[in-house]
Amino acid sequence: MGTERSVSAFAAQLGGRPTTVVRSPGRVNLIGDHTDYNDGFVLPLAIDLVVKLAFRRRDDDMVRLWSEQTNDWAEFSLDSLAREGGWGAYIQGVASEMVPLGLARSGWEGVLVSDIPSGAGLSSSAALELSAARAFALVSEVEWDAVEMALLCQRAENNWVGVNCGIMDQLICATGEDDRALLIDCRDLTRRAVPIPHEATVVVLDTGTERRLVDSGYNERRHSCESAAHVFEVGALRDLSIETLESGKDRLDPVTYRRARHVVTENERTLLMTECLDQGDLVAAGELMRQSHISLRDDFEVSSDALNSMAESALPAPGCYGARMTGGGFGGSCVALVDTNWVDEFRTDVLERYQAASGLRGTAIPIRATNGTSFEGLG
Ligand code: GLA
Repeated sequence: MGTERSVSAFAAQLGGRPTTVVRSPGRVNLIGDHTDYNDGFVLPLAIDLVVKLAFRRRDDDMVRLWSEQTNDWAEFSLDSLAREGGWGAYIQGVASEMVPLGLARSGWEGVLVSDIPSGAGLSSSAALELSAARAFALVSEVEWDAVEMALLCQRAENNWVGVNCGIMDQLICATGEDDRALLIDCRDLTRRAVPIPHEATVVVLDTGTERRLVDSGYNERRHSCESAAHVFEVGALRDLSIETLESGKDRLDPVTYRRARHVVTENERTLLMTECLDQGDLVAAGELMRQSHISLRDDFEVSSDALNSMAESALPAPGCYGARMTGGGFGGSCVALVDTNWVDEFRTDVLERYQAASGLRGTAIPIRATNGTSFEGLG
């Protein structure tokens, strides 16, 4: 998406020109779901579906922001933040973390345009949070530390919005790299760039069914994982081997055992997938994605009929190496790894199969990995 759309929306809503346009990407996770809050491994990429926030500084402490997607305003004063629903909560949440640290010292006004479909599980909320954080940092002339800002935005979501999410979405949105996925160790937040081989294209498969983290069993899953770690007296499920889990299986109730088994095996799959991509072994990489979906479906139970239909429709489609649900689950999107030469045929075929199986219309979007939150000064 070009800058012009945000600049002309700015002129229409606020008059005049913005001084700056922040660009903040959505994300898709290749493998490693529900592992981040277990101190484990994830392999996401920042995608070329982005939000653009065009803004200019104000001389007071008001923040006024219009969203093209919802055609409405969020407006608040930095010295009287109040909890409200809707997308404005993400902006106020970020402000609530930045103000006490002296990182949001001035108001601003702007417009938000986005081509990240909301509710598709592509982290439009992390993109929104990071774009607001970047705007605050710019008007306040504070240095941008991408990892610190990702952590701050995660706290905003935990404390203000009330979703107990892990660090994956904010961190990849802040630190993504062109043409690369990042293997993130969610314990120490170290990242290793993993190039996506040219022969493969990542395709996002939006089921057209919305996901809602707050309403979903996300916090409940997280709680099960913590109680399993507690029973085995480890800091987090990251520290549990499959052997220890299997031999101590009776110490957990059957549901908690399956939750833990997903996390332990998913961590292994994520590390293996990294090796497969390094070696260009796309067939083995695809098989790991297939197994990941089954584990999320049967052990972690965060898939949905639509996600299952989409993943199953993708596997037999031309050029498909592998496919799985991606992100938190309970609706949203799948991700597929597809032979670059077959992307067009793949898209047509998977969507036809999906519609025949589910009666729903999906969307298949080939995507490119991009860099994290950035900005452009308009002078
Ligand atoms: C959501 C959360 C992330 C992560 C994923 C599942 O996207 O925001 O922190 O837990 O679900 O991998």
